[in-house]
Amino acid sequence: MLRFGVLGAGRIGKVHARTIAASGKAKVAYIADAMPKAAADLAAEVGAKVASVEEIIAAKDVDAILIATPTPFHADQIEAASNAGKSILCEKPVSLSVERIEQCLKVVEKNRTTLMIGFNRRFDPNFAALQKRLREGAVGNVELATIISCDPAPPPPEYVKSSGGIFRDMMIHDLDLARFLVGEEFVTVTALGAALVDPRIGDEGDCDTAAVQMQTASGKIAVITNSRRAAYGYDQRIEVHGSKGMLRAGNIHNTTVEAATADGFRADPILHFFTERYGQAYANEVLSFIDAVASGKTPSPSGHDGLQAQKLADAATLSWQTGKPQKVS
Ligand SMILES: NC(=O)c1ccc[n+]([C@@H]2O[C@H](COP(=O)([O-])OP(=O)(O)OC[C@H]3O[C@@H](n4cnc5c(N)ncnc54)[C@H](O)[C@@H]3O)[C@@H](O)[C@H]2O)c1
Repeated sequence: MLRFGVLGAGRIGKVHARTIAASGKAKVAYIADAMPKAAADLAAEVGAKVASVEEIIAAKDVDAILIATPTPFHADQIEAASNAGKSILCEKPVSLSVERIEQCLKVVEKNRTTLMIGFNRRFDPNFAALQKRLREGAVGNVELATIISCDPAPPPPEYVKSSGGIFRDMMIHDLDLARFLVGEEFVTVTALGAALVDPRIGDEGDCDTAAVQMQTASGKIAVITNSRRAAYGYDQRIEVHGSKGMLRAGNIHNTTVEAATADGFRADPILHFFTERYGQAYANEVLSFIDAVASGKTPSPSGHDGLQAQKLADAATLSWQTGKPQKVS
């Protein structure tokens, strides 16, 4: 049974700790959080002990570290856990700095650490099935991918200050998904953005409405649109066009019940936000990591995937700021 140390008992740390505890294949041995009560409450729920980050990373009875602390701590904690010989599942992003990710991945490579990055959308049952069919050639050669991703409501403007901006914080998921779907690296990125939802987000130097176009060296195109506000819920759709047709995956509604009246058809609202919409994806992601570590396989997505998504996010940010297309190395 794989023994986890969980760092961070906030929104996403709770989701992952519950999956581990319910898996039957692994257990949460220890939990650390800067807020003692958060650690104690989650530890009591999943049958773990509370300890400090340093104690957990050094603990002999811990095999794997799950990092769910705020982003600025990820790279340091990955390096410390790697130096201690632990397997690591780290939430996205590795760091807001490409240079820091590169340094961190050198340590991981030197130690031959097992490292997986939490790009959960790859594990959504619908998106994963769509990508599998793409690779099996269901619509021939992939030519054009379209990803629509809108949050139900914007975060407070003070969150934006430390988030790294919409491209590094929110669109990073879609940038990774575009690489996952298209199966090639993007070499050019062009972005547009505006603060149309909340002008205070604009005052903080960020935008809340964004569109990105990217192209691979062979010419394949991805288009991503993001908004921090959707009156109807968490809008998550993808569509991939190929030489023999198209595959798409739409939103998931609270129920499949439809009401028809003289005014037309009405469906229930879509699942409200990420913990509901991607609940199964988060569980599948953690189970995939557990299975990979238990069987000695390399888990995916990797640290390299984290680095590539960050490069695209940086290029998109620069393109938005300069108004010019950017090349990606
Ligand atoms: N994959 C996803 O869909 C997804 C969703 C949400 C968050 N995330 C990522 O997960 C990370 C955490 O986000 P969150 O929303 O759970 O944040 P959160 O603020 O809800 O939780 C973070 C927790 O870490 C604790 N903490 C802060 N500094 C710490 C430290 N040095 N050591 C130990 N604990 C510390 C805080 O007290 C808090 O309880 C972020 O990097 C975020 O980008 C990913």
